[in-house]
Amino acid sequence: MKLSDRQQELLKRTFLDYRQTMDFLENPLVFKSAKGLYYFDIEGKKYFDAIGGIFVASLGHCHPRIIEALRKQSEIMTFAPPLHGISDVTLEFVDKLGLVAPGNLKYVKAFSGGSESVESALKFARQYFKQTGHPGKYKFISRYMGYHGSTFGAMSASGTGHRKTKFEPLMTGFPKVPNPNQLRDRFSDWQECNRFAAKLFEDVIIHEDPDTVAGIIVEPVGNTGGIITPTQEYYKILRGICDKCNVLLIFDEIITGYGKTGNMFAAQTYDVAPDIICGGKGLSSGVIPLGAMIANEDLSKAFLGKLGSNVEFAHGNTYAGNPLACAVGIAVLNEITEKQLDKKAQRIGKYLFNKLEGLKKYGVIREIRGKGILLGVELVKDLKTNEPFDELGKALKQTAIKNGLIMRIDPSWFAVAPALIAEESDIDEMYGLIEKSLKDALDSVKKVNK
Ligand SMILES: Cc1ncc(COP(=O)(O)O)c(C=O)c1O
Repeated sequence: MKLSDRQQELLKRTFLDYRQTMDFLENPLVFKSAKGLYYFDIEGKKYFDAIGGIFVASLGHCHPRIIEALRKQSEIMTFAPPLHGISDVTLEFVDKLGLVAPGNLKYVKAFSGGSESVESALKFARQYFKQTGHPGKYKFISRYMGYHGSTFGAMSASGTGHRKTKFEPLMTGFPKVPNPNQLRDRFSDWQECNRFAAKLFEDVIIHEDPDTVAGIIVEPVGNTGGIITPTQEYYKILRGICDKCNVLLIFDEIITGYGKTGNMFAAQTYDVAPDIICGGKGLSSGVIPLGAMIANEDLSKAFLGKLGSNVEFAHGNTYAGNPLACAVGIAVLNEITEKQLDKKAQRIGKYLFNKLEGLKKYGVIREIRGKGILLGVELVKDLKTNEPFDELGKALKQTAIKNGLIMRIDPSWFAVAPALIAEESDIDEMYGLIEKSLKDALDSVKKVNK
């Protein structure tokens, strides 16, 4: 892609997320428009969006029903100040999200994105324990390789070393445990590995002292690290540990929510009830910034009191519960439930999974994993040693873009999560691009190594 001098200058005056601008300038990508399953760049080139932007455009880009909901609300009211009141549409959103959330998770607060939702869940949990007789409970245990956001609390809970060290020291009280994938080569049995990995949380809680631990926060299916997909038993064990130790189980469903895993939430896919769910990304299908914290209604009672009782949740954001964002969120949830798109994700996900299995013939794929249409493919140099194939992933980043394909690649795995509007024929097209890009990447790696 050719950029004008002005565009190049402007690029130096901003930054891309977690990306070196000078590297980007060598191979820039400037989007112009998007519709359904496709992006178009400023030169008119078309890209198949295999990942909903970045796990966001869950119903595809510019979905007419969502755009119409946004337009309608924009003629009524675009902002209501959360300090003085709440909009009727925000209340409708609270009801709608509570209805589709698992169990008794009906206490809902809308925010502007994932990090805000995580940040508020951490604060909510700490304040909850402070005013229910456990003021010493403040720590959160999470997993290495997990990512929970860019703000200080969410970053402290994240287990992505190099992304955090630049900002250390981070907040104290965020011990980590390895995720099951990090331990798998020490076990011959994946189930056993998961049992061990889950029980590590209990070990940490005991040694940290349960009276100091407020929560466990995990992504049910972990994106960073390559769509890490623990067993169902793993989450049953976590739930049991939390109940035993009076610790809240927080699911970061910013990626996994809104149908991708085959149910509205991964909590339902795993049949486990967390105490809090954090949402973002696909909740608005990318039409407007929107996130949400969804908590068990029983917890919310600790925040209901008379004037002067000082038990109100001491937290707020100007754009929290924004009426435009809530109108969009309602439209997204209605579309998913009315068209049963979560169930469709099971069918299309199976179809996609079987197609991806076809890539194994190239001898560089250790595993394909995930739930529903949220799938990851792990690249290895050698199927005997399972050495990660970073060079291949790096080459794939370039060949995918060249072939008009957007995926998440980092670097020894890639993830796909096409929008829930995708049909089998779209998956065929997407798979064709993936296979071609992988073949091209293999060729380019071979050339370099010659
Ligand atoms: C699992 C997970 N949690 C939290 C976040 C943070 O969300 P946001 O970027 O909307 O603040 C992300 C973003 O990528 C995420 O993937």
